[in-house]
Amino acid sequence: MQKIIEELAAKVEADLSSVSNKETLSAFWKEYLSKTGKIPGLMKELKNVSPEERPAVGKMINEFKVKVQQDYDTASARIQSEELSKRNAAEAVDITMPAKIRPMGGLHPITLVRNQIIDAFLGMGFQVFDAQEIDDDDHNFTRLNVPKDHPARDMQDTFYLTDELLLRTQTSNGQIRSMDSMKPPIKVLVPGRVFRSDSDATHSPMFHQMEGLVVDRGITLCDLQGMLDQLVSNLFGDGMRTRLRPSFFPFTEPSVEVDVSCFECGGKGCSLCKGTGWIEILGGGVVNRKVLKNCGIDPDEYSGIAFGIGIERIAMLKYGINNMGLLFENDLRLLRQFQE
Ligand code: DAH
Repeated sequence: MQKIIEELAAKVEADLSSVSNKETLSAFWKEYLSKTGKIPGLMKELKNVSPEERPAVGKMINEFKVKVQQDYDTASARIQSEELSKRNAAEAVDITMPAKIRPMGGLHPITLVRNQIIDAFLGMGFQVFDAQEIDDDDHNFTRLNVPKDHPARDMQDTFYLTDELLLRTQTSNGQIRSMDSMKPPIKVLVPGRVFRSDSDATHSPMFHQMEGLVVDRGITLCDLQGMLDQLVSNLFGDGMRTRLRPSFFPFTEPSVEVDVSCFECGGKGCSLCKGTGWIEILGGGVVNRKVLKNCGIDPDEYSGIAFGIGIERIAMLKYGINNMGLLFENDLRLLRQFQE
């Protein structure tokens, strides 16, 4: 029996020294130490030992088992710590490596221009007012002094949803909506989408406008020009001037078309301003007395100014974009040029 144990001990030693990972360790345990393993198996052999020798042999087997168990525990601790350091090495982060560059989004040119316009007017005490995109004929046309048979309706090819409901053709519906919900003094900006059945290089069926409305005592066309001077220096740079030309809109009287001095040539004349030194940027005027009346505001006590800016037009002028479609294609090669 002693010989068997000695032989087994030699095998155990050899096998244990070649244990190098969790798998071989557990194979070792299974072979020698598990219930069906070789060392518990030795105990079964005891019955073949003579009763006189049995206590001594039993003791020997027990001591052998305790020793193997201890060696196994040591090997197990060694393998655990080896595997941990292997894992740590594999997962190590080199904090001196340069970081991966994450592509950053940027604002769309339409958003940039909208924000610049809002910035200019917030500084003058305006507030942003939200008016709905689906509105009725009354707010988009009639109360803005564009009755049903008015020829001005032909200028704005309208998408009708029902006889009464339509996709607003202009943010001017925000004039009526704001005057319905506020009392003067009113100073609002109404940015948003507008819709017209129109599509070519400078028109899109959906585009953006920004309406401005001021209603208070003693408001005149001079206030409009003063505010617009501030706007154009915000948009195109200090020193830009505005020029008002007579025009016609049903909701303003008098009405003006507003030009900015050409920011490309400084007013000398170039291809952008077609040699005139001026570029048309928006329409506006003194709010028609009928519109104030339509909103329950006494035109003898209050007066107002209003204006409407086409945001795409400003973006195209400012950034030299010659086709409105480019603003809606979302081609990253174009959009990346606007990252700040
Ligand atoms: N609503 C006009 C349009 O879409 C633009 C406009 C002109 C708005 C004059 C105004 C204004 O408020 O006073 O063509």
